[in-house]
Amino acid sequence: MKRTIIITGAAGNMGLAVVKKFASGNYNVLAVVSPGKAADSPSMSGEVVVEADLTDETQAESIVETCIEKFGRIDAAILLVGGFAAGGLAKANGKAIKKMIALNFETAYYVARPVFERMKNSGTGGRIVLVGARPALSAKDGKALIAYALSKSMLFKLAELLNEEGAPHQIVTSVIVPSTIDTPQNREAMPDSDFSKWVSTEEIASAISFLCSAENGALREPVIKMYGRS
Ligand SMILES: NC(=O)c1ccc[n+]([C@@H]2O[C@H](COP(=O)([O-])OP(=O)(O)OC[C@H]3O[C@@H](n4cnc5c(N)ncnc54)[C@H](OP(=O)(O)O)[C@@H]3O)[C@@H](O)[C@H]2O)c1
Repeated sequence: MKRTIIITGAAGNMGLAVVKKFASGNYNVLAVVSPGKAADSPSMSGEVVVEADLTDETQAESIVETCIEKFGRIDAAILLVGGFAAGGLAKANGKAIKKMIALNFETAYYVARPVFERMKNSGTGGRIVLVGARPALSAKDGKALIAYALSKSMLFKLAELLNEEGAPHQIVTSVIVPSTIDTPQNREAMPDSDFSKWVSTEEIASAISFLCSAENGALREPVIKMYGRS
């Protein structure tokens, strides 16, 4: 039987690589893009593309419903939406903090919550993948990125809580922690960097595929640091 997966941030750098990886495997893919972006999304091998602003809880819940209506089940959710903001304490006022929490935490939480409930009620378990960031784990890296680091740190705590609740139900929540990803935007922003030290979106997609494979039933509380050579 085909497994079913929700991928958010599907039109982003990591999203495109992850969609490609899963759409070429034995998966039904529900690819979630931001409002107005479905028409631009490159169609691969038959994934269903839906639009939603995932900072809106109602829209997030409705994509989970759509997945159930179309495919009848959810085996995995890969929650890739997120964004970056530079700035230490002086810049991290309430507005900046709320903006980062909405983009990095709410967009994941509003999908993870109904997905988790579905998985729990299905009795067949499931996999949830969140994307953290190195500055959330290292104060040395995070002190110049306060709003970003704080918002990403909430995802590690969310994974811990979901793993505690999910263990008896075979629901495993993983956190992928990339350092700088080799993207066109990062190359443009840091042209003097050694790009070979960065991690590629394909490497991240492979790690996510491993985390979601049905064979890896023994995994518990995975936090996968993908720092490349940086
Ligand atoms: N890039 C890096 O070096 C790096 C490093 C560490 C961690 N990460 C994390 O890795 C993940 C993926 O990064 P990436 O480089 O692939 O990012 P990306 O290219 O910016 O992709 C993010 C996607 O999320 C979509 N999105 C933004 N706000 C949304 C919303 N409210 N509702 C629905 N969709 C929304 C964006 O759509 P629009 O473009 O239409 O807004 C975009 O397609 C993020 O969580 C990021 O924080 C990235």
